[in-house]
This record gives sequence, structure tokens and C-alpha cells, in this order.
Amino acid sequence: KKIVLAYSGGLDTSITIPWLKENYDADIIAVCVDLGIDEDWEAIEAKALASGATKFYNPHVAEEFASEYIYPAVTGNLRYQDTYLLGTALGRPLISKYLVEVAHKEEADAICHGCTGKGNDQVRFEMGIAAFDAEMPVIAPWRIWDIKSREDAIDYAQAKGVPVTSTKEKIYSEDENLMHISHEGGDIESPMNEVDYSNILHNVNTPEEAPDEAEYVEIHFEKGRATHVNGEALTPAEVIRALNKVGGKHGIGILDWIEDRTIGMKSRGIYETPGVHLLMEAHERLESLTLTKETIRIKGILSAEWSQLVYNGQWFSMANEAIRAFMEDTQKTVTGDVKLKLYKGNIFPASVDSPYELFDQDVSGFGEDDLFNHHDAEGYINVITLPTKIQKRKGLI
Ligand code: ARG
Ligand code: SIN
Repeated sequence: KKIVLAYSGGLDTSITIPWLKENYDADIIAVCVDLGIDEDWEAIEAKALASGATKFYNPHVAEEFASEYIYPAVTGNLRYQDTYLLGTALGRPLISKYLVEVAHKEEADAICHGCTGKGNDQVRFEMGIAAFDAEMPVIAPWRIWDIKSREDAIDYAQAKGVPVTSTKEKIYSEDENLMHISHEGGDIESPMNEVDYSNILHNVNTPEEAPDEAEYVEIHFEKGRATHVNGEALTPAEVIRALNKVGGKHGIGILDWIEDRTIGMKSRGIYETPGVHLLMEAHERLESLTLTKETIRIKGILSAEWSQLVYNGQWFSMANEAIRAFMEDTQKTVTGDVKLKLYKGNIFPASVDSPYELFDQDVSGFGEDDLFNHHDAEGYINVITLPTKIQKRKGLI
């Protein structure tokens, strides 16, 4: 028997290796999909093998993640519950794709993931796997075994000789990729606790730590996709890396909030998303100059719906494809330059410019112009106030 395991090098997935071997009498193929982070991959491979895996796969797919997942999300200004930029939710479908690819190549009997039964990621992985192989069996040890807490997991690891790096004091559950790092659990869990961000964040300065000098960053977009940062042509993953660096320095993209999970419970989490936070603000600024009022309104409605699909694991679905196509169509004129000023966690729009701008100085300015006559407003107001006047006459308001 062969089982493909979604492996991260972390505690949860490491203890899964000896457990699977014991309970399924199978060879374990560890698959660690790199969505664009700086890691010591050799050390992770060594840890997988030391924990009992027979083989290790390590696809590096940062460009695919940036180009096919993050950039489309930016075209839709995707924010779950108007807030969370979906860094983990966007990554899971892509990981699922590679899990199935390896499972097919290895002719594996099942795919295993280390998600808990309370979380979102189990749903996203299993939806993603189903989208590529409807018959593939999935094993989710956290829904089966007696290990009930991260403390239990540490004890189990120690008993099985699995190397442990997280200690019992610092016990956050984190997910990192090119786009973000999420932090959950430990003292973060209770919304009553004020936590010290400087102890939690890895890539973003707190506003207190950020420089006293503001800094400008300029982003060029072609049809909604960022192509240059400060005049330099970059690939999508490079754009995000560059923006992570400058955003992180200035304390941009820290989110501490309480979300509603798919499964139904509330959960407090802390997120650092410096680059994509900047990218989305810049993109929205450019859209505000280049899209019509109606397009912006309809995009907003579909964006809220799309964020639900993505959060709930339905990236690979007909609805997702349809909304994505609509969003892409709206981007035909979202070309131009946006300059932002960064200062201690804040983003100030400095300037925006586009060959497709709908802002017209003559029309929007206070002076006279030939397209708009002030007197025309009177007839317009007479028409639109009619329902109000009727309601008033009938004593209904
Ligand atoms: N709550 C966030 C989400 O649902 C982050 C989840 C992080 N996952 C993890 N395995 N640490 O997208
Ligand atoms: C987990 O439960 O495995 C992590 C958190 C989540 O999936 O939401």
C-alpha cells in the first residue's frame, strides 16, 4: 500500500507518518508543495525521512500560485467577510492539485492530510482532491485518532522519535505561503487576550517598529495584473515578494480578527499579508479611476459571493470559473500606475494615472463645461423625488 501525505514539516504532519505506517501498513510518500516560501527544503526532506517517509516530493510552484490564484483574487478584490484576503484558502486548492498528481504518478491508494475536524482546510483539501479525482480515498487522522491537542501531539512525537521544534509554550498553528502567514491557537484563541504582535509576526514590523520615514511605492498594472514595481519589470511572484518586503518594513497588512469558519464556529486569527494587501489597495484605486459605477457595484456583489466560494473550498467549481471570467472581462481597462505612500501601518494614495481614466477634469471640476448643464439636474431631481413625494402625500412616511 502507498499513501500520499500532504506534508509541511510541522508537528501535525510529522506525527502522521508513524501513525499511518502503524495503522495502514503503508509506504508514506511525503509531498511538500512550496507556495513560495524561504525554507531549508533539505532539512524538511530530512525530517520527513527521519520521521519514516519513504519518498519526498517538493514541487516549487510560487509562480503558478501568484499568477493563477493570487492575481485572479486581486482582480476580484477578494476579501472574505469584507476582511480576510484568503491567503490560506487560495493555497489549498493548488496543493490539492499536486497531491493528486503525485498520487496518480505513484499509483497511491489514498491521500492523507493533517487538518483537524474543526477547521476549514480539511474541506478545502478534500474539495480540491475531489475535483481532480472523484474516487480518491482521503484519510484525515485528526478525525480518527486520540491525539486531541497540540500538547498530545508533542507527547506522541516524542514517543515515536519524531523531531519536534515547537515547544509547549509557543504553540501557534501557522500557515505560510508567498501571500501570507496565519497565526491561530495558543493565547491568540481567546478574543479577550490582547497579544503582543511583535512576538507573533515574522515578516511584518509592528507600526511601532516601522521606520519614522514614509516611503513611496509605485505599481504598474496591465489589465488588472501588476507587471512593474518602482519601474522594474517583475513576474507575479517577484511582484509579491517585492511588495512583501516594502510592506513588511512599514507594518502594512496586519489583520487581527474573528472569522466564521465553514464548519460554523468563530475563530480568532492574526494574519500578515503585506504585499497582497498593498497590491489590492493599489488595484482598487486604479479601478476607482477606470471602471464605471455599475461595473464597480456588480463586481462588489460578485466579489462577496466569490470570497464565500473560495473560503469554503470551491475554487475548482463551475461557479468559480464563471465569476473569474466575469472579473477578468472587467479588467480590460485596468491599466495604469498607482503610487502609494506607506507610513507606520498606513497606506495613503499618492497618485493614480491611466490611459483609460473615466475621470474628466472638465466634467468633474467645479467650472463650466459643454457636456453638463447645471439646470439639467433640476429635471433629474424632479423625476427621482416623485416616489418620495407620493409616499409623503399618502402619509406613509
Ligand atoms: N483561518 C484561516 C483560513 O481558514 C487560516 C487557516 C490556517 N490553516 C492552518 N492549517 N494553520 O483560511
Ligand atoms: C486545522 O484545523 O487543521 C487548521 C485550521 C483550519 O483549517 O481552519
